[in-house]
Amino acid sequence: IENRFPNLKRADSPSDKVGATPSGAFGKVEHSVAMLSLGNAFTPEDVQEFDTRIRRFLNLEPDAELALTSEPKIDGLSASLRYENGVLVRGATRGDGRVGEDITANLKTLPDIPHRLPEGVPDVLEIRGEVYMSGANFAALNARQIAAKAKPFANPRNAAAGSLRQLDTKITAARPLSFFAYTWGVMSYLPADTQRGMMACFEAWGFRVNPAFIGVTHPDGLLAHWADIEARRASLGYDIDGMVYKVDRLDYQARLGFVSRAPRWAIAHKFPAEQASTQLNAIEIQVGRTGALTPVAKLEPVTVGGVVVSNATLHNGDEIARKDIRIGDTVVVQRARDVIPQVVKPVLQARPENSLEFVFPTHCPECGSAAVRDVDEDGKADVVTRCTGGLTCPAQARERLKHFVSRAALDIDGLGQKQIDEFWQASMVQAPQDIFTLQARFEDNPPAKWLYANGPKDKLGTLKESVKKLFKAIEARKTVDLDRLIFGLGIRHVGETTARGLARHFGSLEKMMQDVRDMGRGDGALRADLEAVDGFGETLLDSLVAFFGEEKNCESVQALLTAGVRPTPLEAVAQDTPVAGKTIVFTGTLVQ
Ligand code: IVH
Repeated sequence: IENRFPNLKRADSPSDKVGATPSGAFGKVEHSVAMLSLGNAFTPEDVQEFDTRIRRFLNLEPDAELALTSEPKIDGLSASLRYENGVLVRGATRGDGRVGEDITANLKTLPDIPHRLPEGVPDVLEIRGEVYMSGANFAALNARQIAAKAKPFANPRNAAAGSLRQLDTKITAARPLSFFAYTWGVMSYLPADTQRGMMACFEAWGFRVNPAFIGVTHPDGLLAHWADIEARRASLGYDIDGMVYKVDRLDYQARLGFVSRAPRWAIAHKFPAEQASTQLNAIEIQVGRTGALTPVAKLEPVTVGGVVVSNATLHNGDEIARKDIRIGDTVVVQRARDVIPQVVKPVLQARPENSLEFVFPTHCPECGSAAVRDVDEDGKADVVTRCTGGLTCPAQARERLKHFVSRAALDIDGLGQKQIDEFWQASMVQAPQDIFTLQARFEDNPPAKWLYANGPKDKLGTLKESVKKLFKAIEARKTVDLDRLIFGLGIRHVGETTARGLARHFGSLEKMMQDVRDMGRGDGALRADLEAVDGFGETLLDSLVAFFGEEKNCESVQALLTAGVRPTPLEAVAQDTPVAGKTIVFTGTLVQ
């Protein structure tokens, strides 16, 4: 009926539960309230410090009550559900926290996600929570995958991710996914004044909230709950990687606010990482984007926490010596989510006689330049050894490119680490600007690798669809936010927040380059002006001067602009307000 009479189809139609016809690609959704991440606590002291920090911030007496909540941290994917007048109108992934993907049709297939809420809910509301797959459903899905000769998933999280991001929502509908609600985005009014009250509302509106969600009045209560859930972890039926603690009172949450990307009023208390032991076959040196040489352990593949690990970081030379790790040793490896696997220690009882001590190289293995350690003001050597090859080192150039296209920078669909390696090897992309001239060069002389070599006759020798798509994505990215572009340049000490500050301050790449170069030539007044800007310290300014002091870097920036990249300035901060240009000092006491 809906197919014949589309105008009769309701937004909350039950037919969406079984999946809809595939659409072309996922649209982008800008989150009106950013989807934050969480700071981490690893020890009881960290948790105590969390409580103390909040009390200090709120200026609470030591014996004043500070109610907190505790709940498991689900190892899945976060999603945001927008309801208008009680009807689910949009569902999105977290993405980079500011912009996610529109996966409404996929989310509608989850039994835990209501399409319509009861009467009387706020007009506009966004429910946020975690999409996950239970252990039992994961095992059953993998059994089906194996029976169908398809590749099994490595862990429930990957299975959930693979199931959710399906253009064909019939596939999503056939996958057993679940959803726990734990926070919110926009809400036209708050129906409660505590976290606990909000969760009760969510439940009343038909969402599942975690049964292990509790309220406590002392950090000891958090630690007891952490220990209790950690002991029962295996029997919960789904993967969790820690606990999340939140301040209960919403007025306190509002006062506490957030720093960069994480709220001050919440923290994730992680469970210990999973460990396994295996043989260390070799140690290789990886050269990073800033020239840092990182020793990487090449391991006999081993499964740690559901994932096969064959590489792990050894951090630096001092660390290898301190832990006395030798090639040929049996080593303990650990893996925590979001963190690169690490080598913890050697198993000394199992050390073979022919184990080999590792000698840290004095030269960059990629370009042969001298590798040196930074020395700080007191003459103390830094733990990091760096290649001095700069832009002449191919490894640094390649890693810079990977950074340039990474998610928080240019974020070009279809151009990830793997593709950068491929284009690099084919000498098609060696510097950021080459990305934007790729299409023209392909049209002149496309390398065989990106052409159809077999398949239907009319396709032979023509460009692969994926490449055509990539060119479209590159073209679209010529318009890019100025802060993302600045972050993408990979200047040392310029993270995302600093990049935003720089974009806001300079307004354009040209102005930034010009001012920094003038400052480098000794314009002291300019330097003093910049040092006065909040967040611009000496280290940052020195780093900017070093970066734009390299002719090649300036040429590269210029070439980006010539290739048609048009950075969009950030919205200007209003200048014509009564407080603009004034320094205002508050004294006294703020009374609630
Ligand atoms: S609260 C502002 N509660 O952990 C607070 N997050 O590392 C936002 N997560 O992006 C998150 N279980 O995907 C919260 N019970 C829980 C959670 C949880 C899992 C995820 C969430 C978030 C990530 C942060």
